[in-house]
Amino acid sequence: MSLLIIGGTGTLGRQVVKQALEEGYHVKCLIRDFRRGAFLKDWGAELIYGDLSIPSTLPTALKGSSIIIDLATIKSISNYTAETIDWRGKLGLIEAAKLVNLKKYVYFSFLNAAKNQSIPIVDLKLKVEKELEKSGLNYTIFQCSGFFQGLISQYALPILEKQTIWLAGDSTPVAYLDTQDAKNIIVKSLSGSMYDKQIVSLIGEKFWTSKEIIKLCELLSGKTAKISYIPVFAFRILSIFFRFFEFTWNIADRLQFGEISNKTALNSEPSNEIIWSFERLSLENYLQEYFGRILKKLRETNYQQSKKSREISFL
Ligand SMILES: NC(=O)c1ccc[n+]([C@@H]2O[C@H](COP(=O)([O-])OP(=O)(O)OC[C@H]3O[C@@H](n4cnc5c(N)ncnc54)[C@H](OP(=O)(O)O)[C@@H]3O)[C@@H](O)[C@H]2O)c1
Repeated sequence: MSLLIIGGTGTLGRQVVKQALEEGYHVKCLIRDFRRGAFLKDWGAELIYGDLSIPSTLPTALKGSSIIIDLATIKSISNYTAETIDWRGKLGLIEAAKLVNLKKYVYFSFLNAAKNQSIPIVDLKLKVEKELEKSGLNYTIFQCSGFFQGLISQYALPILEKQTIWLAGDSTPVAYLDTQDAKNIIVKSLSGSMYDKQIVSLIGEKFWTSKEIIKLCELLSGKTAKISYIPVFAFRILSIFFRFFEFTWNIADRLQFGEISNKTALNSEPSNEIIWSFERLSLENYLQEYFGRILKKLRETNYQQSKKSREISFL
């Protein structure tokens, strides 16, 4: 069976590529920059050029694929709008998918998306879900919670770099998911029909609030976090302000996302079928491994620097 993976360079995408190759699938990755995707070729994947912002590049890339795994989304720093990638690009993909003999289209959306349509990126995801439902294609839609890996830039790095972490009061607990665990469930789902034409929620085993994660990072790093609380109304004003500028669409989305996930059930238990991802590593162990590695590196760098300055002072 030939898989076409879109978004293979991404956080979850690279894990899915690796797992699919390990399980013997022939994996083609749709890539817009071959240098960025070189590591996927080293792992054994075939690279094919395609760009969601240029829909005319998609039909050729899809030829010969029996399953599409679409993990692509707008990057936080991007020259495009979410509408270009996560809506028009996806429409192009679905249209091109109808022209090949496809067994399944696997798509990734947000947990409890239907309850949070006022967030633009969630709204686009929902619209794509609806397009897939009426496309006549066989599909599985995984609605995911946040990833362990995202917590590094959200909390761990700001604490290490003494940067401020912005929080909007008490956050709703999130059942974070390790992409290393998610990849097994996703690749396993390809061989069966259990999730055909279904929307399923894919979440981690334990719900965490922002404050609990920050406390854990403080404990493991030995550093104190700089936290600033921003009222919900300020999130709203900032998101309107940022929305004014096209290039900051992502910032506006993230702000509004923060506001709404704070208020509503974006991350609370969903109503559709849930796949609980059994954790290879708990979040405690995942962050412990991360801080262990980074603090060791920092100690080594400091040692080398102080050794160098001692040598210079002797000259
Ligand atoms: N991260 C989360 O917490 C979370 C939560 C729920 C759902 N999801 C969903 O899960 C999926 C995977 O998320 P992720 O965090 O792993 O994504 P990610 O790390 O941000 O990666 C995004 C991927 O999309 C690709 N991409 C962006 N623009 C493209 C374009 N114009 N043409 C082709 N490819 C393009 C990127 O390729 P380049 O390397 O070329 O930029 C990259 O491989 C997404 O659908 C996301 O919405 C994520």
